[in-house]
Amino acid sequence: MNDADNTLVSASQPLEERVNNRSQRPSSDAFKAFMASNWAPATQQLPERDAVAGHAAARRRSISGQFKGERLVIPAGPLKVRSNDCDYRFRPHSAFAHLTGLGLDHEPDAVLILEPVPEGTGDDGGHHRATLYFRPLAGRDTEQFYADSRSGEFWIGARPTLAEFQAKLGLATADIAELELAITKNVGAPEIGGISIRLVRKVDDNIDALVDTARYNTAKDPDNLDLSVLDALDEKLTEALSELRLLKDEWEIEQMKTAVAATVAGFTEVVKALPRALTHHRGERVVEGAFFARAREEGNELGYDTIAASGNNATVLHWTRNTGKINAGELLLLDAGVEADSLYTADVTRTLPANGKFSEIQRKVYEAVLDAADAGFAAAQPGTKFRDIHTAATTVLAERLAEWGLLPVSVEEAVSIEGQQHRRWMPHGTSHHLGLDVHDCAQAKRELYLDGVLTPGMVFTIEPGLYFKNEDIGIPEEYRGIGVRIEDDILMTTGGPVNLSAALPRKADDVESWMAGIYLEVNGQTP
Ligand code: GLY
Ligand code: MN
Ligand code: MN
Repeated sequence: MNDADNTLVSASQPLEERVNNRSQRPSSDAFKAFMASNWAPATQQLPERDAVAGHAAARRRSISGQFKGERLVIPAGPLKVRSNDCDYRFRPHSAFAHLTGLGLDHEPDAVLILEPVPEGTGDDGGHHRATLYFRPLAGRDTEQFYADSRSGEFWIGARPTLAEFQAKLGLATADIAELELAITKNVGAPEIGGISIRLVRKVDDNIDALVDTARYNTAKDPDNLDLSVLDALDEKLTEALSELRLLKDEWEIEQMKTAVAATVAGFTEVVKALPRALTHHRGERVVEGAFFARAREEGNELGYDTIAASGNNATVLHWTRNTGKINAGELLLLDAGVEADSLYTADVTRTLPANGKFSEIQRKVYEAVLDAADAGFAAAQPGTKFRDIHTAATTVLAERLAEWGLLPVSVEEAVSIEGQQHRRWMPHGTSHHLGLDVHDCAQAKRELYLDGVLTPGMVFTIEPGLYFKNEDIGIPEEYRGIGVRIEDDILMTTGGPVNLSAALPRKADDVESWMAGIYLEVNGQTP
């Protein structure tokens, strides 16, 4: 094709319109009028106020106190294309979910704005008034109703109206059509009466561009705009929102319990599915599917891709391909978490003998990891440091590795800062915060995270492991191909750590009898 032909084709029909070539919708006024008529009116009943509303208001109030006089812009994010005209299931940004209380798939392109008002005259006596901008449900008399496959009711079901979200969240709402003005009006340097903006960046490219343009157009010297100063303003907001999530409120703790309960149910389903998994050429996928069914039935989704790793695959820390066969006599490492409808996720790992019985060497490695986890629990007390959990757990692992003759140096040298030889077999951290994100609070300052003090209301994991790869030719053969991780979800309370995932057995004997009990229930006999 020469250039002239190319131009002709493009001019006749742009490529982006061609995805609609598989069907043709009339555009006559008669057709539009017919499609828009004779639909029952939408229900007028408003929902009750959600239990989360007061908690979300308190979170907004806390952020308001840190950024007096500044406009805060927190986007939910747009739909993301998976391929061609298929999108991923929408999941709002966690900071947006936290400040609005919205979960599920609410709401693509939405933006929460905290507008500064004179001190103390804002929501709940704060310094801002919050408004949620989103694309409200279009009436059944509109073209969007039947013609918009991404947001029309005919295509994806009824979405919320402004009044519904206002009633449910206790938050002012406005049409997304008003968003541009709401973000850009009066932007400028405070010394000339303008309002400074802070944005949670890299969530929605359109909003980033809008804020950048507004800043550029209102800068005193646009050609010498110092972007690093503006980035620092934005980063401070992201950091503050991440740190706001370090302590969970009562409602969030309930959500964590809900997510963990569904996860426990998912692990039970996996044990039920193991006999079939053992006969399937991709047994790991059978396991992944069994867990996923529970995640969708009882929650919103998975909090992260399931790691269903058998044999040597269990030594790959984030093995999510899950294409392997599960052989009797191998260990199955299952690291999986259900994300509740509120978007809070569990993150639990159990390492199970595929045929229900640990071999001697598997049990030896398993019990070392369990002892490390127990040492981590013992170290986790209100007032101790987050990093103490890791130190306690990995010291136990270094001791065992030394006992078994695998550690090339003394335990003292291994646990020193420059040693760390035991990390060859456990290269990851022992703990992370958990909540709306599986690795929650990831933008918090180091002094509040790793060097932070364990405080009642924190939720985090304890997850030591040992991973001996088939390819590790420096260790005796009997260890090779064994990967063990035990991961629990912990709530810190004034009385010490509470294991939220304790319903799943941890001790080797308890794991075996739990599996045998499920087998008996399903098959009417013991394996
Ligand atoms: N599932 C990822 C992790 O345990 O951190
Ligand atoms: Mn984890
Ligand atoms: Mn995990």
